[in-house]
Amino acid sequence: MDLIVAVDEKWGIGKDGDLLQRISADMKYFRQKTTGNVLVMGRKTLESFPNKKPLPNRVNIVLTTNRNYEAEGVVLCHGIDELPEVLKGYADKQIFVAGGGTIYEQLLPQCETAYVTKIYNTYPADTVFPDLDAHPDWELAEKGEVQEENGVKFSFDIYQKK
Ligand SMILES: NC(=O)c1ccc[n+]([C@@H]2O[C@H](COP(=O)([O-])OP(=O)(O)OC[C@H]3O[C@@H](n4cnc5c(N)ncnc54)[C@H](OP(=O)(O)O)[C@@H]3O)[C@@H](O)[C@H]2O)c1
Repeated sequence: MDLIVAVDEKWGIGKDGDLLQRISADMKYFRQKTTGNVLVMGRKTLESFPNKKPLPNRVNIVLTTNRNYEAEGVVLCHGIDELPEVLKGYADKQIFVAGGGTIYEQLLPQCETAYVTKIYNTYPADTVFPDLDAHPDWELAEKGEVQEENGVKFSFDIYQKK
């Protein structure tokens, strides 16, 4: 299982249910990596998508504790412990943990590779990702070249579990 996330310089990832910064090159990168594969996300992240709709051409697995929750086009999962059984159906696909904060935190120990878009700014944030540079179990494997879009600098970095 892998994860994909966009973080700012303080590993902030979100505020008020939304992303900190929209970067179209990052959206494209996310789409390229995840299309045809499987996303695992929390209910709040699903609801942060346009019209609260799942992302197309991917399996969208959504975690919620609410057994009455209904959402079209998603696979619901009611607990992290149920996830391995659900994922058995997708053994031929790459699994990407796609947020948000609560889901990254719970599934980080099960992830092998982290695709981290590093944004070279700091924003007010209410949701953060663990600092992988300070994490004993993770190391930077690949530092992407720094790019710029509308004055915002970013790079596509890859961390690996040690
Ligand atoms: N920068 C990025 O790459 C990135 C990526 C994704 C999201 N985000 C941002 O992150 C923020 C959302 O993150 P968040 O932490 O607030 O919410 P979240 O992780 O997306 O969703 C939290 C919800 O997931 C469900 N959940 C969590 N653990 C569960 C478990 N063990 N079993 C069953 N259900 C479980 C619960 O839903 P119920 O309440 O329905 O039970 C919980 O309220 C937004 O600002 C979003 O834009 C950023």
